[in-house]
Amino acid sequence: MIWASSESLMLRPWVLRIILRRDSAASVHRQITHAIIEEIRAGRLAPGSALPGSRKLAESLKVNRKTVVQAYDELVAQGWLAADSTRATFVPSQLPQLPNVEQGVRAPRQTRPSGKIADAPDFRLRRRAPAIAYMPRADGVLAFDDGSPDTRLMPVDALARAYRRALLEAGRGNRLGYGDPRGSEKLRSAVSTMLNLDRGLSCAPDNICIVRGSQMGIYVAARILIEPGDVAVMEQLSYPPAREAFRAAGAEIAIVDLDSQGMRLDQLEALCRRKRVRAVYVTPHHQFPTTVVLRPERRLYLMMLAEQFGFAIVEDDYDHEFHFDHRPMLPLASADRGRKVVYIGSMSKVLSPSLRMGYMHAPVPVIDRAAAEVMMIDRQGDPAGEDAVAEMMGAGVIKRHTRKVLRIYAERRALLGALLRDAFGSDIAFLLSPGGLALWVHFDESIDMGRLADAGARNFVSFLPGSIFAMTDAPVQAARLGFGSMNPDELGEAVERLRAARRLIA
Ligand SMILES: Cc1ncc(COP(=O)(O)O)c(C=O)c1O
Repeated sequence: MIWASSESLMLRPWVLRIILRRDSAASVHRQITHAIIEEIRAGRLAPGSALPGSRKLAESLKVNRKTVVQAYDELVAQGWLAADSTRATFVPSQLPQLPNVEQGVRAPRQTRPSGKIADAPDFRLRRRAPAIAYMPRADGVLAFDDGSPDTRLMPVDALARAYRRALLEAGRGNRLGYGDPRGSEKLRSAVSTMLNLDRGLSCAPDNICIVRGSQMGIYVAARILIEPGDVAVMEQLSYPPAREAFRAAGAEIAIVDLDSQGMRLDQLEALCRRKRVRAVYVTPHHQFPTTVVLRPERRLYLMMLAEQFGFAIVEDDYDHEFHFDHRPMLPLASADRGRKVVYIGSMSKVLSPSLRMGYMHAPVPVIDRAAAEVMMIDRQGDPAGEDAVAEMMGAGVIKRHTRKVLRIYAERRALLGALLRDAFGSDIAFLLSPGGLALWVHFDESIDMGRLADAGARNFVSFLPGSIFAMTDAPVQAARLGFGSMNPDELGEAVERLRAARRLIA
């Protein structure tokens, strides 16, 4: 650390304090410019004050004179300093954005000598923060996440080769600039073909907008459907980031119950008779978090209610690919004669969440509105990455990979079921989920879920208690235990730790 004081230079009666930190990531010239601006803003260097000559300051700071000249030049260019005809440098009377000092309003806080940013901001934040639990990864902790894939299984070599090819091709074709906010044409085309052939939809690439994961799809859908004060409906247990996306768009969230067949549509109908419902968020394939499949009769009923009451259905098909009992059920969107459904899918579970690649399917005017939203928040995706995934879809790589990992996940699902039964016996109850990468496990009333989670954390195993997914304060004696991201050994160890945690609170 180096201090320079103009007093020591015997130049002026004021003190010019510059602290240079050799260990700082900021360059020396940037540190000098920041320090001088801070002195001016704090009023210690008043308009009219002359600065030490560049040679003197350089000597006292033990830096190259050129560095000081560069800093002075930059400050002159920004209007913080001025140079007169004798080449003396001084603080001008007109300063950039300094009304607070001139009008006697509280001067801004001084930068800390350590060079670190202050802990708290000096401005107001919006009152309400989105309430979304996040499970940070910690070394040595085995995590029952909410249904993530095992990214060690990801076909990284195939993706890397496809990405290299796509990057070269897009670069040579001058397609790495700003492009279509709906996403790469190749991927929109590959996704629409896949939706037509595998999921019973009937669409063209213009019905597709590529987004950064289904979460962005939900956020964009909420933005284009909801005016502030509109009612959006969710199940009592649902996906909190979706609720927060609707809230962020200004929605009033209304809650309906769910049972072993899925959403209670009698309650939805009653609600629609009382209120003007604008959107209903559902995960019909594998209800989040309970994994229940929405029964066919309820699907028809839901579509009928959408027709009758004029609401949009936001169908979040976040893990369509992983269905174990029979072929995946077709999405609601496949029976969407009335064009009531905004259908959202993702590559996160089948490839990896870190790819941030998902898609929205809807009538063209909806997709055009979605594209306008994308322009505001993200501009576009990654054209080379999208082309690479399109190539993998076209070449059947993703289908083969899906078949392969489906077998692995089916084994892990059965293994977790067996391990849990062994460890907890009649204290738990669950159905082997028909699809998805997590089990919804009910725990006996005698087990305090919060205490079990705390004891688990002390025992290096984490899980998400069901109350995290509850839309009301009603207690939830259940947990969503993901089995996809842990291999058999890890699953065995995680259940052992959970069993030990249980003993700790008995
Ligand atoms: C129900 C549900 N919807 C959406 C998402 C978001 O997934 P992504 O944005 O990675 O596609 C998830 C992630 O786990 C999810 O569980």
